[in-house]
Amino acid sequence: MLQTRVTEMFGIDYPIIQGGMMWVGRAELVSAISNAGGLGLLTALTQPTPDDLRREIDRCRAMTDKPFGVNLTILPSMNAPDYPGYRRAIIESGIKIVETAGHRPQEHVDDFKAHGILVIHKCTAVRHALSAERMGVDVISIDGFECAGHPGEDDVPGLVLIPAAADKVKVPMLASGGIGDGRGLVAALALGAEGINMGTRFCATQEAPIHDRIKQLIVESDERSTHLIFRQFRNTGRVCKTPVSDKVVEILRQPGAEFAEVQSLVAGAKGRAALETGVIDEGLVWTGQVQGLIHDIPTCKELIDTIMRDAESIISDRLAGMVRAKVPQAAAA
Ligand SMILES: Cc1cc2nc3c(=O)[nH]c(=O)nc-3n(C[C@H](O)[C@H](O)[C@H](O)COP(=O)(O)O)c2cc1C
Repeated sequence: MLQTRVTEMFGIDYPIIQGGMMWVGRAELVSAISNAGGLGLLTALTQPTPDDLRREIDRCRAMTDKPFGVNLTILPSMNAPDYPGYRRAIIESGIKIVETAGHRPQEHVDDFKAHGILVIHKCTAVRHALSAERMGVDVISIDGFECAGHPGEDDVPGLVLIPAAADKVKVPMLASGGIGDGRGLVAALALGAEGINMGTRFCATQEAPIHDRIKQLIVESDERSTHLIFRQFRNTGRVCKTPVSDKVVEILRQPGAEFAEVQSLVAGAKGRAALETGVIDEGLVWTGQVQGLIHDIPTCKELIDTIMRDAESIISDRLAGMVRAKVPQAAAA
């Protein structure tokens, strides 16, 4: 057993959290992760309306009696989703743990805190972690440059970002980005985190509600097979290298290229279609570099059990053995 402030705060068996994932964070995956002793998070915006989110929360409750939460991602958008409505749905459904991500979460954090909800804020820079801490969040989830989704614009990988944040942040931290196995969990704890947040690894599980061909794509792709897109718009995204993302990179490489030129290729609805049909030419597939470490498609329980078993054996056998291996000079002579 590995106990940390995170396992205690959330009432979970293992310090393993699943980050919000558009189109993937549905009740099937979330309940499987929570039932296996981790913490699953439904992704609010995957549901078309706040009422659909209420129904999805009910559906998830019917599938697990373990703690689970909801991710609310706040995107800069011309046609903003009904954020207050989603927030109300979360609060009125009695959810006790929320992950916020994205821009200016203050009003959401204030409201969640006023209703006794534990808030994890996910960010990609130490300065953002500190401002979220000042806002009163309970846990910081910090995403290194390796991560799927939006790694920010600073390009600092987890090996530096996590300890840099741990030096300054006082609330418990989750290490996120590039973690997929027991080695990653032990490394995260060593760097100062008290748990891990995973995205890509959970997409390649039996219960992830996406097409088998996408899971297979993750298994077949290596650590070099991601693209960074939208850099020039300061909204960098890390996606799987596919014919669609190759085309996006090619178009955006042209001097003066504008977002409108790729808009139809990168539409969220097309990404959803790719995940559902398994046709990778349909739209973007979001994955991180950790796909290079993913070689199987286990159940969430098998995955979490393996991570925990490996982590405990690395700590108790391999690392403890290294400490013991230091033989005093006199004894060696
Ligand atoms: C398919 C997919 C969709 C994602 N969608 C979101 C999202 O809607 N909101 C969010 O905060 N993070 C999103 N993420 C990021 C994850 O929550 C997590 O921070 C990231 O995957 C961690 O990096 P890893 O993939 O290396 O584990 C997504 C990740 C994936 C793989």
